[in-house]
Amino acid sequence: MSDAWWRRAVIYEVYPRSFADGNGDGDGDLRGLRARLPYLRDLGVDGIWIAPWYPSPMADGGYDVSDFTGIHPLFGELADADAVIAEAHALGLRVITDMVANHTSIEHPWFAAALAAGPGSPERARYLFRDGRGDSGEEPPTNWISAFGGSAWTRITEANGAPGQWYLHLFAEEQPDLNWSDEAVRADFDRILRFWFDRGVDGMRIDAAPALAKAPAFPDADYGGDPRFVTIRWVGNPHWDVDAVHEVFRRFRGVADEYADRIFVAEAVVSSAERLAAYLGPDEMQTAFNFPYLKSAWDADALRSVIDDTLEQFVPIGVPPTWVTSSHDEVRLRTRFGRRTTSSAHFADGQGEAVDLELGLRRSRASALLTFALPGTAYLYQGEELGLPEVDDLPDGSITDPVFRRTGGETRGRDGCRVPMPWSGDEPPYGFSPDGITTWLPQPSGWDGLTVAAEEADPGSMLRLVRDALALRRSVPGLLGDEFRWVGRRDGVLEFDRGGGFTCVVNLSGSVVPIDATRPVLLASTAPVDGLLPNDAAAWLSR
Ligand code: GLC
Repeated sequence: MSDAWWRRAVIYEVYPRSFADGNGDGDGDLRGLRARLPYLRDLGVDGIWIAPWYPSPMADGGYDVSDFTGIHPLFGELADADAVIAEAHALGLRVITDMVANHTSIEHPWFAAALAAGPGSPERARYLFRDGRGDSGEEPPTNWISAFGGSAWTRITEANGAPGQWYLHLFAEEQPDLNWSDEAVRADFDRILRFWFDRGVDGMRIDAAPALAKAPAFPDADYGGDPRFVTIRWVGNPHWDVDAVHEVFRRFRGVADEYADRIFVAEAVVSSAERLAAYLGPDEMQTAFNFPYLKSAWDADALRSVIDDTLEQFVPIGVPPTWVTSSHDEVRLRTRFGRRTTSSAHFADGQGEAVDLELGLRRSRASALLTFALPGTAYLYQGEELGLPEVDDLPDGSITDPVFRRTGGETRGRDGCRVPMPWSGDEPPYGFSPDGITTWLPQPSGWDGLTVAAEEADPGSMLRLVRDALALRRSVPGLLGDEFRWVGRRDGVLEFDRGGGFTCVVNLSGSVVPIDATRPVLLASTAPVDGLLPNDAAAWLSR
């Protein structure tokens, strides 16, 4: 099925709590999302990926799910989800939901039952409980670390009041890992997947995919002297990217294939394109986020080698390359690209460095033209089309990311890219909620020029650039095909042809570079002058 929609789609990530508030309580919701679906159609995306919308105590922004077949009351109810799916479809937009299968919330009834039932019970076998080490089990069972800092183990108190077993949580302690060797867990997820496919979702993003299997003997991990959760560097780790994980996804695929044209997108940050390719193919997932591209520095050689690796790995196995630059987990691109450290192996990278927001915007604009010109699928996180900066001065008291607490405030975490969207107006809540309402995370002053309404009216805005780029992506023949060929090799310059006379040139060289002044410029992130493309700019040329 070489023309399947997901092979060349642009998918927009909606973080529902921060997208649009339909009931005026300061939190985004599904009614708000529904009302803004036409905005997304007009933006020119092909589909949306909706971050978790399930009931959740929100210990990790909704990635701590207490009911996999419900909707969080903050966001609405199941009927609202059905309406979002139906209305999106009516507008020609596909809908991808988020499947958080590695863990549940501590408030999930399965976990409550596991605590109540005691060691050795089938209820406890749904999770990863182990006895502690040390004379009285006072030491964690292994040295494994949590993605959010500290140990990945928490000790419970048994029903009789005695200190008890430990449970594994690769993320926050409010997110106990499920035991994917347990048939009851597998069977429950068959049911959960069918529940959403029956409601019409077109696909699911599989959260933290490499986490689902653990080495059966639970050996200590060797973190090679860097006790941080930097999975892109981990090889042979006992709790990440363990081969048994693929059995789980083959089973998922079996369920998806009961339906027509439903897809899985892997969220899999692993050590190589080869390891990632193992998640993909006719019996596993159809596609995966490209984290090496997302995490790459703004540097021509680094980007060129990621692009080459991606194409070499995926094209021969028939998997569409994907190009992702941001998400609800990453520092906003404008801020990241305005710092000295432009790569992002870990979410604390670059934190506290000085930011040049003008430079960051120029580079984000150029990056958008690079990303949308590459063959395959592209992802766009809400607010990136506006060039929003990271809000890096949120008051401590408003921060909700568990990483802030678990690192004793050392890592500020991901709230700064989750600040509610500015839609219109001159001051908070910028049309996100009715005037006078305080949004769940505070919006900064000074975003009046960055609202959707302001940028729609400004021909030089990021929004207009993204819209124009997505419109061209749908109409320029070269961009609709699969051709890709580097042109020449100039230091600091990325230049490639996509067939049909289409060329993309991106200048990261530090000075102006000449481009063929005889060719019409279809679109540029900063206009070339007299055949010279400025630094940190990109241009699309036609024949
Ligand atoms: C994924 C999500 C992230 C979440 C984590 C644990 O990486 O994108 O937001 O914290 O999984 O579920």
